[in-house]
Amino acid sequence: MALWGGRFSTGPDEAFKQFNDSLPFDYQLAEQDIIGSVAWAGALKQVNVLNQQEYDDLVAALNKLLDEVKANPQAVAVAGHEDIHSYVESALIDKVGDLAKKLHTGRSRNDQVATDFRLWCRDTAEHILEAIAELKGEFIALAERELGTILPGYTHLQRAQPVLFSHWCMAYVEMLERDESRLSDAKNRMNYCPLGSGALAGTAYPIDRQTLAEGLGFTGATRNSLDAVSDRDFVVELLSCASISMIHLSRMAEDLIFYNSGEAGFIELSDGVTSGSSLMPQKKNPDALELIRGKTGRVFGAFSAMMMTLKALPLAYNKDMQEDKEGLFDAMPTWLACIHMAQACIKGIKVNADKTLAAAKGGHSNATELADYLVAKGIPFREGHHIVGTLVQMAIAQGNNLEDLSLEQFKSVHSIFESDVYPVLEIDACIKARQALGGTSVEQVTSAIKYAKKNSK
Ligand code: ARG
Repeated sequence: MALWGGRFSTGPDEAFKQFNDSLPFDYQLAEQDIIGSVAWAGALKQVNVLNQQEYDDLVAALNKLLDEVKANPQAVAVAGHEDIHSYVESALIDKVGDLAKKLHTGRSRNDQVATDFRLWCRDTAEHILEAIAELKGEFIALAERELGTILPGYTHLQRAQPVLFSHWCMAYVEMLERDESRLSDAKNRMNYCPLGSGALAGTAYPIDRQTLAEGLGFTGATRNSLDAVSDRDFVVELLSCASISMIHLSRMAEDLIFYNSGEAGFIELSDGVTSGSSLMPQKKNPDALELIRGKTGRVFGAFSAMMMTLKALPLAYNKDMQEDKEGLFDAMPTWLACIHMAQACIKGIKVNADKTLAAAKGGHSNATELADYLVAKGIPFREGHHIVGTLVQMAIAQGNNLEDLSLEQFKSVHSIFESDVYPVLEIDACIKARQALGGTSVEQVTSAIKYAKKNSK
């Protein structure tokens, strides 16, 4: 039965009903709708719309219903009602008869759905924050394990300067920390309760909305009823947090796919997160990482869809807003699954330190050190840069690294070179020199690890 039949002489067309109904997806708000209804019953008792006995009977029936929907949420999805609010009301009528019809006093589905959805978003944000913290922990553990491993650092996907493998790990910890802080800001901002805003103008009952809000774990009550029923900023913010975090996960995935390639051979992913080919028996494909990279597009899609839906919507509630759910209901579990999968990939990584070291030594990635050596001897950096460029050309011509050039060759380009140039060109010296805050020296990376560990407590 619809909640609004009185004004109509016929029911909806079957095709319209299917088009209009949201129960097939908003059944996921069943728990929140019931919890919100228990709180609303309390508010109605406070203004004497319900007496104690009626309140007790309603709450007992709502709690029973809560157990039922928890036990079988899928049954709610196919119950045929217009939406979750209609479902809960009708299930309550089945349990307590006409008393259930009092519960909607002073309330609208508009403030109800806004409340349910915020509760769902808040719970989901909490799960995701836990998952991000675990992923950070996994990166930190890998950073501690691989502190001695040297990796070529890239710009333009060309070997640029050597870095510690752990420095790479800690770069992602930084990104994840920002993801965490963004999400927890969004969570704090969304934690205000629209219940008691009515359809758009506020409720005509003298409800203590602050107490109602706090009872549901909100920081407080929303302050403007028109805004409260039509605001979906919290959905946009959540999808934006998800999108930015997915950018990070996709970059991590891309780095690792490359490191894992036959050409690089820097790491090996565990069997647990890779799959084989039906045709080529030798293959071990980085599917988990490719899917993280691929699913990023799906999350961005939900984000932009939500922005489009809200653009230029007049105040207050419009049915367009029912489109807020499916994208988020898809994007949030997708994001969560990607975080978990990223963690599984990081946990099982085997780093091939010989290969990373050999690659870091190639590509003339100590050329900057050589320019700095000249600067220390009083040559302006720009001139030093040019001299080193000439030496790199020389090394390339003989198929060698810079440190393989003879002192005579160095001197043929500039007489200032002495044999003290060789220690400067050692890879450990390149790492050791990066002592300023945020650099790749062992000391700096160790203190980054320490900082991150302290921060995650
Ligand atoms: N299913 C609706 C939604 O998700 C609930 C609110 C309906 N309100 C209304 N006035 N029709 O947005």
